Amino acid sequence: MRRTAELRDMVRETRLGPGDCIYPLFIVPGEDVKREIGAMPGNYQMSIDVAVRECEEIHQLGIGGIILFGIPAVKDEHASGAYAEHGIVQEAVRAIKRGVPRLVVITDVCNCEYTDHGHCGRVVGNDVDNDTTLDWLTRSAVSHARAGADIVAPSDMMDGRVAAIRKGLDEAGFQKTPILSYAAKYASVFYGPFREAAESAPQFGDRRSYQMDPANAREAMREIALDVEEGADMVMVKPAGPYLDIIRMARDRFDLPLAAYQVSGEFSMIRAAARNGWLDLDRAILESLTSIRRAGADFILTYFAKDVARLIG
Ligand code: PBG
Repeated sequence: MRRTAELRDMVRETRLGPGDCIYPLFIVPGEDVKREIGAMPGNYQMSIDVAVRECEEIHQLGIGGIILFGIPAVKDEHASGAYAEHGIVQEAVRAIKRGVPRLVVITDVCNCEYTDHGHCGRVVGNDVDNDTTLDWLTRSAVSHARAGADIVAPSDMMDGRVAAIRKGLDEAGFQKTPILSYAAKYASVFYGPFREAAESAPQFGDRRSYQMDPANAREAMREIALDVEEGADMVMVKPAGPYLDIIRMARDRFDLPLAAYQVSGEFSMIRAAARNGWLDLDRAILESLTSIRRAGADFILTYFAKDVARLIG
C-alpha cells in the first residue's frame, strides 16, 4: 500500500490542513509597525493596521483562525492594560472584526504581558496570589468578548479561573462566548522565544508555582477534568511536541475539542536547524504537525500556519 503516492494518500489515517491551524499574532502600539522577532524568524510584532492586512491574507489562505497577544505601551503592577476597555488587544479585535469579520479571533487571556514584573498574576510577597488574580482575568475576558472576540483562552494557570470567567461572561451577557482553556500548561523552557516576542519574561523567579511540572501526566488529567467541570468548552495541552503522550491521554479521556500549542521553542528549533541546512524545513513542519494531530489534537496553534497553507493549500 506504500508503493505510490496515491496509494499512500488513500490509506492515510491522519489529515492536516490550514483549517486545523491557528496562527498567533503579536500586537504592538503604533502605526505601520512590523518588527521581526529575533528568535522567531518570519514572525513579527505588528501594529493593528498591519495586523488587519495580515488577517485578510490569513483568512484567504483558509487558516482556521488567529490568537492575539498584546504588548501594551505601559506595564504596571496591576496589569491594567490587560483589562482596559481600549487596550491593545481589545482595539485589535475591534479592527480585525471590522476588516475580516468571518476570521475566527481567539484572545489569549493572561497578565504576564501587562505586568511590570512579568508574572501572570498579582504578586504578593514573592509569589503570585491565585484568588485576587481571578478578578483581572475575568475583567480581561469580558473586555475581549465586548470587543468581539469569538473565543477567549485563559493561559495563566490560576485555579478556578474558568469558573470565574464563565460567570463573568454570563453576567455581562456573553453566554455564547466559548472558553478555550490552556488546561494542561507546563512550566516549559520552550516558551523562551515567546517571551522575547511578547516582552513577558518574569523579572524574578519563574512560573513553576503555577504552571505544571513537566514530569507529571496524571496531574494534567486532573487539571483538564477541573476545567471541564468549571465550564471549559475546549481544552489545550501546551507545549505539543514534547507532550504527545499528554495529548493522547487527554484525547482518550475527554470528548471536548482538544487543542495543542506548538510553542515558540518548537518553532525556533526547527527553523534554526533548517537555517543551518541540517533539516528540510517543509518536511519538518509537516511531520511535526501531523504527529500532533495523530496524537489526538483537533487543532493546533502554530507559527507554521501559513507554511501549512503554502504546502497543502
Ligand atoms: C502567556 C503565554 C505564554 C505562551 C502563551 N501564552 C508564555 C508563558 O507562559 O510564559 C507561550 C507561547 C509560546 O511559547 O509560543 N502566559
